[in-house]
Amino acid sequence: MTAIAGNRIQIMHGVNLDQLGRRAPEHYGGVTFLQLEQAIDGFAEQLELDARFFQTNHEGEFIEHLHRLQDVADGLIVNAGAWSHYSRAIGEALAFVGVPVVEVHLSDVNAREEWRRVSVLGEHCIATVAGQGVDGYREALGTLKAALSS
Ligand code: DQA
Repeated sequence: MTAIAGNRIQIMHGVNLDQLGRRAPEHYGGVTFLQLEQAIDGFAEQLELDARFFQTNHEGEFIEHLHRLQDVADGLIVNAGAWSHYSRAIGEALAFVGVPVVEVHLSDVNAREEWRRVSVLGEHCIATVAGQGVDGYREALGTLKAALSS
């Protein structure tokens, strides 16, 4: 999809998400990280959105990427992995990222361990999608599309 201001969606994955395919398939399914990004790209195409991808296992790099997003993205999808549950630093960076953010979790974090039920990122997001696996990203993209066209 051609990038035009208004349709540029940054997809950011955090710690351990690059290991999908060999991590707890009972929670995350058997999909590899590459397959996940390809599926998201396909969903974005269908919605006429331009998806760009970033993943790191380093919290500082994640935050620096957020700092660079202004003027190059119109919306943001974040699955920060375990950082979602405790990184106030990422939360504070999201607070001034300047574009609408949707938080996604592949697994149903509310039905797992107690510590996963808390997100310190959610208050900076327009929506959270959890427990829908890969399809959750389609919903997140739809939510951003609606927000960007209203
Ligand atoms: C996750 C849920 C987190 O609790 C976990 O630490 C992850 C993946 C998810 O997509 O379900 O790494 O964000």
